[in-house]
Amino acid sequence: MTDASADRRPHVLLSVAMSIDGHIDDRTPERLLLSSPEDFDRVDQLRADSDAVLVGAGTLRSDDPRLLVNSPERQAAREARGLPAQPLRVALTGSGDLDPGLRFWHHGGDRVAYAPDAAVAKLAERLDGLAEVVGTGPGLDPGAVLDDLGARGVGRLMVEGGSAVHTLFLTAGLVDEVQLAVAPFFVGDDAAPRFVRAGTFPQDALHRMTLAGTGALGDTALLRYTVARPPLSAADRHWLALAIEESRLCPPSETAYSVGAIVVAADGTELARGHSREDDPRTHAEEAALAKLDPADPRLGTATLYSTLEPCSRRASRPVPCAQLIRASALRRVVLAWREPGLFVANCEGVELLEQAGFAVLECPELAAAARSVNAHLV
Ligand SMILES: NC(=O)c1ccc[n+]([C@@H]2O[C@H](COP(=O)([O-])OP(=O)(O)OC[C@H]3O[C@@H](n4cnc5c(N)ncnc54)[C@H](OP(=O)(O)O)[C@@H]3O)[C@@H](O)[C@H]2O)c1
Ligand SMILES: [Zn+2]
Repeated sequence: MTDASADRRPHVLLSVAMSIDGHIDDRTPERLLLSSPEDFDRVDQLRADSDAVLVGAGTLRSDDPRLLVNSPERQAAREARGLPAQPLRVALTGSGDLDPGLRFWHHGGDRVAYAPDAAVAKLAERLDGLAEVVGTGPGLDPGAVLDDLGARGVGRLMVEGGSAVHTLFLTAGLVDEVQLAVAPFFVGDDAAPRFVRAGTFPQDALHRMTLAGTGALGDTALLRYTVARPPLSAADRHWLALAIEESRLCPPSETAYSVGAIVVAADGTELARGHSREDDPRTHAEEAALAKLDPADPRLGTATLYSTLEPCSRRASRPVPCAQLIRASALRRVVLAWREPGLFVANCEGVELLEQAGFAVLECPELAAAARSVNAHLV
C-alpha cells in the first residue's frame, strides 16, 4: 500500500469462524453453524459498522447467504447516521457464472459484482441489472477492487469469505485486521474447507501478527489480530504538521495539554480544525473540530482525523471523552503524533478504544517530538 491511490483504499477486516481444527465448513450441503448466538450478534454489529461486506462466488453458490444487517435497531442507527440501512454488498467471481436467483441479489440495497474483464459481459447479461458489474483487469485483482470501493466512498470493508477469497486478500497483503471466532468442536475431515488455502503470505502474516484482543462470546473464542499497518503518506505527515501548528494557538494552561486537530477528506479537502480551549477552558481539540462537522457529510467515512495527541479515553472536564466522540462519528481513520503520557489521567486508552471499534489508527513517531515541544512546560 504505497502508491498514491492506496490512500483511498478502505480498511479491510477479514472475518471468519472456524472449528478447532481450522475448518470453516463441513462437506454436507447445509451450511455448518460454527458460531454461538452471541458471536452471530457480533458479526451483525461488524456488518452494521462496515460500509461494504464482500463474499466470494463459492460461498454464494454453497450457502446462498443474504449477508444483511439483521437487527432493526442497527439498521435504524445506520439511517440516523445518514447511511443506507444496509452496507453495500459486494460479490467476487472469476468465471462470471453466478445465478441470478441467489438470495444475495434480491435483498438489501446496492450491490456490486467484480470479475475479470473477460467475464464482465457474461455476468452483466446473467444479472441483468441486479448488481452493478465492474471489471478488474485481466484477472480478479483485489487491489483494483479496493481502489474502486475506495472511490465509491467505502472506508471500511468486511470480507466474509470463503477460503479462496480470504487467501486472495491475505496473500496480496491487503488485510488490516483478522477477526477469528473459534468454535469448540472438531470437523475431522481433511477435505472440508479450511480458513485459507496454501499460498505465499506476506512477511507480517507469516511471522507473527499483532494479537489485538481476545474474548469469549458464549462458547466461542474471539481472537483479533492486526496485520502490518500501511505506512504514513506524505499527505498524512503534511496534515499532522499543520495540526501541530494549530496546537500552538491554544490558550496556555498549567492543567491541560495544548492539542490541535484537523479533519481532512480523502480528496485532501479540509473539513474542520480545532484546538484545545478555543472557545471554553474545558474544550478539547478533537471535540472542537468534530463540532464543526456536518455529521451526515458523506465524506466522513473516508476522511482522516489528525490529532497531535492520543484522543482521551477519560477526562475530568466533560462527561464524554474524545475517543467516544470520535467513535460516534462516521470517521474511521485517525493519525496521531503522540501517545498521552499519564500526567493528568492514568492509562489513556484512546487508541485501544478506537481500534476496538475498527478504526485504523496510525502513529507518526517522527512528529511526536514536535507535538510534545508545544507542551514543554508540562512534560
Ligand atoms: N465459517 C465461515 O466464516 C465461512 C465464511 C464464508 C464461507 N465459508 C465457507 O467457505 C466455503 C466456500 O469457500 P470457497 O473458497 O469455495 O469460495 P469463495 O472464496 O467464497 O469464492 C471462491 C470463488 O471466488 C472467485 N475467486 C477467488 N479467488 C480467485 C482468483 N484468484 N482468481 C479468480 N477467481 C477467484 C472464483 O469464482 P468463480 O468460481 O466464479 O470463478 C472462486 O471460485 C463454503 O464451504 C462456505 O460455507 C465459511
Ligand atoms: Zn479529549
